[in-house]
Amino acid sequence: MALILSLESSCDESAAAIVENGCTVLASEVASQIARHAPHGGVVPELAAREHLKAMTPVTENALRTAGVTLQDIDAVAVTQGPGLIPALLVGINFAKGVAQANKLPLIGVNHFLAHIYGAFLDSDLEILRNPDTYPMLALVVSGGHTSLLLIGKDGAAHQLGCTLDDAAGEALDKGAKLLDLGYPGGPVMQRTAENGDSARFEFPRPLTGGAGRALTPENLYNFSFSGIKTALLYHVRRSQDAGICDETWLRDTAAGFQEAVVDVLVRKTLTAVKNHGVRTVVVAGGVACNARLRQVISEKLPAKVALKLAPPKYCTDNAAMVGGIAYHAWKKQEFSELSMDAFARLPQIVSVPFV
Ligand code: KG4
Ligand code: ZN
Repeated sequence: MALILSLESSCDESAAAIVENGCTVLASEVASQIARHAPHGGVVPELAAREHLKAMTPVTENALRTAGVTLQDIDAVAVTQGPGLIPALLVGINFAKGVAQANKLPLIGVNHFLAHIYGAFLDSDLEILRNPDTYPMLALVVSGGHTSLLLIGKDGAAHQLGCTLDDAAGEALDKGAKLLDLGYPGGPVMQRTAENGDSARFEFPRPLTGGAGRALTPENLYNFSFSGIKTALLYHVRRSQDAGICDETWLRDTAAGFQEAVVDVLVRKTLTAVKNHGVRTVVVAGGVACNARLRQVISEKLPAKVALKLAPPKYCTDNAAMVGGIAYHAWKKQEFSELSMDAFARLPQIVSVPFV
């Protein structure tokens, strides 16, 4: 039995959680900084770091209070080590080091990208991870920083089939929403605006899917590119302004068409990987996995014999529960980090996952 205090500060959410045995979330507190960054139209790293400085203590105290435990009950302190914004990561890491040292607890540095995948398994029976029939497992990680397909074998070996060559899916939605003056963050507002829109009225490109007469090279079979969709949106807005057709209906139809293009590319590539690699389970995780249209289309199109694990929306966007959940697997193997642990900004090559 292990009770882990976990912390997350990689971007614009300061979060703390208490997770028992890698699955039971006793508390998950998230202090969002969205309102502070919104006027800038995106996350400002130094501002994020300063906000984390203010929020780390109260979110941790709240998590302990909600879980009804004290630091004396905790077995380890886990913290997001990267990838993320370095100034932001350093705040959480330093805080975690202080708590760990003062309470003589082991420290566990966690990969944020893998933690997102683990978010799909929180509050559920971990038997699915132990069952060999679950594999090969394919994880589609879609967030503001990542768009990636990771293939995971029954021995825990992992291989990234593809990733984005430019913008992440969430980044494309955020930039698209900015272009349409919808506000920040773009994903949720794009979804709301698209709700009653006609996605077929305006056609947006599906980059790297072999459409538009362009051959898809084998190395790009599982890669993504979203910057072209964003540029197409820019030209569409200019043309529509010139034609004087930018009314409420135009906005809804534009958002629906743009969202549909992003979702279509994500689902198509996932289905290709499922077919080519005999995938038995698909996991969809990361902030964009909140998207209702993505959840609907993947549920409809995935063959019935393939299991689908959609991360619960509260564990899609950044949170500390996913960090505390995955850290349990390092705790079990007594794989702890040094107190000299450093942050990392970019995703290292993933060759295995700790939770299989
Ligand atoms: O996982 P996350 O909180 O942070 C990163 O690790 O990047 O993901 C944030 C991203 C943002 O780009 C945001 O616009 C997107 O997730 N997002 C959504 C939705 N909710 C959040 N995108 C589409 N539809 C949503 N409902
Ligand atoms: Zn994230």
